[in-house]
Amino acid sequence: MLFNLHPKEHRDELFGRDSEVEYIKRQVRAGNWVIIGGQRGIGKTSLLKVVLNELSRDGLKTIYINVRGINTLRDLLSLLINELNKHKISLRLSLSLNFILGSAGITLSRGSRVFNSLLELLLSINEETVIGLDEVQELSRVSGQLIKILGNVFTGNPKVSFIFM
Ligand SMILES: Nc1ncnc2c1ncn2[C@@H]1O[C@H](COP(=O)(O)OP(=O)(O)O)[C@@H](O)[C@H]1O
Ligand SMILES: [Mg+2]
Repeated sequence: MLFNLHPKEHRDELFGRDSEVEYIKRQVRAGNWVIIGGQRGIGKTSLLKVVLNELSRDGLKTIYINVRGINTLRDLLSLLINELNKHKISLRLSLSLNFILGSAGITLSRGSRVFNSLLELLLSINEETVIGLDEVQELSRVSGQLIKILGNVFTGNPKVSFIFM
């Protein structure tokens, strides 16, 4: 197993990264957001997946999103909606114009604006949730807007934290 080519997901397959795993978990628990940097193949995705697995075992909601090939906020928004629905993450969206609440979760209302919807969605998350965004450089074309949204979420919703790489 040690030599398979997929990112590792469990601590016992991840070699020599115990201090990094502990450091990231500590930062997340302290309410900080984390950036994992490093060259391709160094083990960033593996580290993220192990961290998310362990945080979810500890009772936090965790979402992994690989944004490779995603270069619009609209695509990011629909990935996020899918993940929030899949993990049944609780949201405060009762009076929203941007979303429709259904039995299977939420969907985007017709005509809703992407920037507003993404911001509203992230602000509405109502339980401790850690979102890992892998290959975030792929979003460089929309980084200006994304940074505004994230800045707002950092100050406006302490229940959400991000790990970027
Ligand atoms: N610390 C590690 N222990 C075991 N395997 C590792 C470790 N770091 C990287 N790998 C292996 O190397 C390959 C690349 O790792 P990956 O997590 O995809 O790196 P990155 O996301 O930085 O490109 C994968 O096959 C992964 O299983
Ligand atoms: Mg990777």
